[in-house]
Amino acid sequence: MSENSVNRVIEASGLARHYAVGEQVVRALDGVDLSVERGEMIAIMGPSGSGKSTLMNLLGCLDTPTAGDYRLNGEHVGSASDDRLSVLRNRSIGFVFQNYNLLPRINAVGNVTLPLHYGGRSSGTSAAARAALARVGLADRAEHKPTELSGGEQQRVSIARALVNEPSLILADEPTGNLDSVTTMEVISTLQDLNYRDGITLLMVTHDAEIANSAKRIISFRDGRIIEDRAIEQVRL
Ligand SMILES: Nc1ncnc2c1ncn2[C@@H]1O[C@H](COP(=O)(O)OP(=O)(O)OP(=O)(O)O)[C@@H](O)[C@H]1O
Ligand SMILES: [Mg+2]
Repeated sequence: MSENSVNRVIEASGLARHYAVGEQVVRALDGVDLSVERGEMIAIMGPSGSGKSTLMNLLGCLDTPTAGDYRLNGEHVGSASDDRLSVLRNRSIGFVFQNYNLLPRINAVGNVTLPLHYGGRSSGTSAAARAALARVGLADRAEHKPTELSGGEQQRVSIARALVNEPSLILADEPTGNLDSVTTMEVISTLQDLNYRDGITLLMVTHDAEIANSAKRIISFRDGRIIEDRAIEQVRL
């Protein structure tokens, strides 16, 4: 493998996801070429229905493309078994969702240990979860349940959960969609720190141009296709 391909987290070509709905074919994603190097921070933009979440689901191995080729860390995802896909989802990818997806009855540490348990790890899980919470500035909220946390804190717990397995890629689909502007800045600044300090590769969907400017590259979608892909001067929060 060349040094270039070692540093490439995502390599997708001709990626498509079509849905048959009655007589109609919905081209949710319609031939996307995308290459992402380790350490990038990318904002994905585009109108509602343009295919952003569809792309995230394919990149996160939560969905299978209708056509095209996807390599994650050099590995052909299309030829991976279901077991291997579970391992990739658990170990290589961290997900951050708009609505946090935290379990309400267990505290922050408990929520963050979940991916470790799913991955079969039984020892040191609590210490690893506390370390991940410390990385997002929530060491002092470890025992709090989701209802005892603000929206921004809940989202940072979900970022800690995404981090805990040391994934090579974090995918965030509108991570600040439910947050007010002050809390949004806290969450984006947390994501920027992880990218800047720890070199974590990050793709985030956003509708907000200001948030997009916190990234290093902006990719814009329309009708399932990339219409613009440009490097920008990152605004550090
Ligand atoms: N399961 C499905 N069956 C049929 N069509 C679907 C399905 N899922 C998504 N679509 C269609 O695919 C297109 C892309 O959807 P997607 O969720 O990727 O958009 P999006 O860019 O994330 O939009 P938003 O900004 O509103 O979240 C939409 O037109 C949507 O209606
Ligand atoms: Mg979406």
